[in-house]
Amino acid sequence: MCGIIGYTGPLDSKKILLEGLSQLEYRGYDSAGVALCMENSHIRVIRHTGKVSNLKEGCKDITEVSHCGLGHTRWATHGGVTTENAHPHRAGRVTLVHNGIIENYHQLTTEFHLEDKLHSETDTEVAAWVLDHIYQGDPIEAIAKLVGHLKGSYSFCMMFEDHPGEIYAIRNVSPLVAAYTRSGSFLASDLTALIPYTRQYFVVPENHIVKLTSYQTQLFDLDQKEQEPELLEVNWNTESAMKNGFPHFMLKEIHEQPDALKNTILPRLVKGLPDFTDDQIPDDVLKNCNQIHVVACGTAMHAGMAARALIEPLLRIPVSVSIASEFRYEEPLVDDKTLVIIISQSGETIDTLAALRLAKHYGSKTLSVVNVKGSTIARESDYVLYTHAGPEIAVASTKAYSVQLAALYMIGCRMAYVRECYSKDEARDFMKELLDAIPAMEAMLEKKELVKDLVSHLIQKPDAFFIGRGLDYAFSLEGALKLKEISYIHAEAYAAGELKHGTIALITDQVPVIAIATQEKVFSKTISNIREVKARGAFVILLTKENAQIEKGVSDIQINIPDINDSFTVFPIAVILQLIAYYASVGKNLDVDQPRNLAKSVTVE
Ligand code: F6R
Repeated sequence: MCGIIGYTGPLDSKKILLEGLSQLEYRGYDSAGVALCMENSHIRVIRHTGKVSNLKEGCKDITEVSHCGLGHTRWATHGGVTTENAHPHRAGRVTLVHNGIIENYHQLTTEFHLEDKLHSETDTEVAAWVLDHIYQGDPIEAIAKLVGHLKGSYSFCMMFEDHPGEIYAIRNVSPLVAAYTRSGSFLASDLTALIPYTRQYFVVPENHIVKLTSYQTQLFDLDQKEQEPELLEVNWNTESAMKNGFPHFMLKEIHEQPDALKNTILPRLVKGLPDFTDDQIPDDVLKNCNQIHVVACGTAMHAGMAARALIEPLLRIPVSVSIASEFRYEEPLVDDKTLVIIISQSGETIDTLAALRLAKHYGSKTLSVVNVKGSTIARESDYVLYTHAGPEIAVASTKAYSVQLAALYMIGCRMAYVRECYSKDEARDFMKELLDAIPAMEAMLEKKELVKDLVSHLIQKPDAFFIGRGLDYAFSLEGALKLKEISYIHAEAYAAGELKHGTIALITDQVPVIAIATQEKVFSKTISNIREVKARGAFVILLTKENAQIEKGVSDIQINIPDINDSFTVFPIAVILQLIAYYASVGKNLDVDQPRNLAKSVTVE
C-alpha cells in the first residue's frame, strides 16, 4: 500500500524513479509524485492525481538532469485524491514521502502549532513539519528524535535541502528494502523496483535509519550507531515481473500456477514424502500441538478455509480460521499448545503481522506460509515455509492462492504422517494426488475460450452467487471475492444448504449462480440445492468433475474438471474461477490488474 522509492547516484534519477514507480504502481494508484534534487541543489516537486502515466506526462518537459530524488505512488488514506494530498510533501527544509498511517497526526498538529502551515489533509505533511521543526542540521539525529513523536506505521523516505545528493529513510512496520550498487544507491517499498539494478539487497530492519549517498548505503540504529545490513539475494529475475506477451499480469499469473506449484512442492518431496528439513521446521512442532489456528486476510484467508476443511477431519484436532483484523482484537483461545499458521503472500499485511505478534505473545508456536522472502512476517515467525510463486503483480491474487494451498496441504500431510494419522504409504499417495492436480490445472487453462464465452451471461448482471458444500463452499468464497474485486459485479458465496434460510429470496429469473459440485460426500445434496435455484429461474453455471452423473436440465452451462481425488479439486476449480473473474473484467473493459480502490500489500489497518 503506497509505493515509495529513492535513488541517488550517477544515473538520471527522474528516469529511475518513474520506471520504479511503474513497477510499484500495484501498491496504490490514486496519485503519484517525484521530488528531484537538481544540479543547483534546488528540489523540484512534481505531483499528479491518477496513475503514474499522468506523472510521466507531467515530467516530460523537465530537461534539467537530476541524480537524486524520491518518488511515491499513493493509496489514499488521510485526505481525498487531490494534487495537494499527493506525495512528496515539502515542509521547510524537508521533502518527504510516506507509506503507512500516523495515528497521532491530530495531536501533533496542535502540539507543534501546525494549523496554518498545512497545505494538505494528510497525516504525512504533519510528520514532515514535525521533522522540520526538530531538524538542526543533522538528519540522522532529527529522524531518531522524530520516531519518539510518532504513533502508527510508517516508512519515510526523505531529503533535506542542505544535504543535496543524500537520501534518508526510516521504517516502522511498513516495508522498505535498500541496495547499494555500482549504479548508485536505491530504496523502495519492495523489490520489484530494484531488480533491474541489483541482485543483492537488504530489508531495512524496523526502527532503523538508512542513509543513501551515490557511493554508499549506511544503516543506523536509533542510537545513531552504524549497523551492518544483512544482505539477501533476489530469488527471481526481471522477466518474472514483466507481462511477457500476456495482456495482463493476472492472466500471466494464472498461467504460471502449474510451475509455481512444482517449484513449491518438488524441492520438499523426499522419497515421496513432504519434508521440511531444509525449511528448518522440526516435526516436534507439527506433532506436539493440540490445535491449529490459521490467521490471514482475504484470499490468503480463503486458502486457510479450504485447508481447514481438509486438515481438520484428517488430524482430528480443532482447526480454526480467523480473519486477521478480527483475531487481533479478540482474546483468541490460543496458547503454548497451539500451532498458529499465518498465511500471507506479501508477508507485510499489517493486520496479519499484528495477529502473528499476538499469537507469539500468547506463547503459541508460529509457522508462516509466505511468498516474499525476508518480509516482516517471515522474519518474525518461529518457522517459515516459503511458497515459490515468484512476484505476484496483479492486485487480485491468483498463483499465491494455489501455492498457499499446496503448502498448507503439505503441512497437513506431514502432520498426519508424524501424528500417525497416515501411514507412510498413505502420505505418499496423498502427495502423488497433490501432484496430479498440476496437469489438471493445465487442462483448465485449455478451457479459456469456453470461459471467455460464458461471461456474457455475467457481465450485464448486477449480482452473482457462488454455491457449494464442504470444500466446494471454501472454493466458492474465493470465486466470489475474485469476481467482485475485478469485475465489480456484486458476488456472494453461500454454503449451498444455507441458501434457503434467506438468500434464496434473491434468486430470480436469470440471476447467475456458479455452482461447484466436486465433493462425492455431498454431491447429491448440492445437486438438489442447484435444482432449487434453477426452479426459481437462476442461470446456472456448474463446475463439476467429468465423470459426474448429472441429469439433463440441472445447469445451463457445465464445465468439467478432470476426475481427480476430491481433496484436490480446488486446484483446477481455482483456475476456472480465476478465469471467470478475469474475462468478466476484460468483458467490462475494466482495469484488470489494478482494480479501483484496491492496492496490493495492505500495510494500513
Ligand atoms: C485478493 C487479494 C487480497 C489478499 C490479502 C492478503 O485478490 O489479493 O485479499 O489476499 O490482502 O494479502 P497477503 O497475502 O499479502 O497478506
